[in-house]
Amino acid sequence: MSFNIAIDGPAGAGKSTIARAAARNLGFLYVDTGAMYRAIAFSLIRSGVEPEDEAGIEKVLESMTIRIVYSDGEQQILLNGENVTAFLRDEAVGNMASRSASNPKVREKLLQLQRDLAKENDVIMDGRDIGTFVLPDADVKVYLTASVEERAKRRYLELIEKGQDADMEKIKEDIRTRDTQDMNRSIAPLKQAKDAVVIDSSKLTIPEVMDRIVDAFQESLKLKG
Ligand code: CDP
Repeated sequence: MSFNIAIDGPAGAGKSTIARAAARNLGFLYVDTGAMYRAIAFSLIRSGVEPEDEAGIEKVLESMTIRIVYSDGEQQILLNGENVTAFLRDEAVGNMASRSASNPKVREKLLQLQRDLAKENDVIMDGRDIGTFVLPDADVKVYLTASVEERAKRRYLELIEKGQDADMEKIKEDIRTRDTQDMNRSIAPLKQAKDAVVIDSSKLTIPEVMDRIVDAFQESLKLKG
């Protein structure tokens, strides 16, 4: 039987950095569900469909195939056969993903894909509703969070490092908007699973967060016998 670790939390809490590193450390697959929502958002932007246009979204989804493959341990997303992974980290794509992710048809398109990956492989899967809905029986659940200031600072440095323009106040505002959208939508809102280990990474280094997750994993291995 496969071993599943679920990591949920708000935008910029460090989920992907931590999940990728922990997956490497444990020899698990890292499943980035945010990238899947981003891939659908990217496709909607390309087709000129607005996030509120339900009929338009349905049409795009009907003709879309989405496949996940791994290359050197890195998740790649194939949209209608095209590898779109390199286009997904833009702020515009992230904002569109946050808006279109509240569409039930969008979520339905990805749910089975995510569950199948977790059934067939040992995975660390990150997102918003993994511990609460996608993998309710995950062996370890983590809710990773950090203050708005700290998350904005990390996003700012990430953009500067990429040589892009960055405005701290605008980033903070975007994070607050994204939190509100993700936590208050009626479908799959971001919330802590009751049985999640909560980690506030505001004042922790990456190795410190990793250690806590590996500890939780070992604890759960003992319980599993
Ligand atoms: O990297 P960041 O945390 O900004 O975002 P992400 O994890 O790439 O996810 C992009 C958007 O997709 C989020 O704002 C969520 O609204 C949505 N999402 C979701 O609804 N459910 C998931 N399991 C993962 C992402």
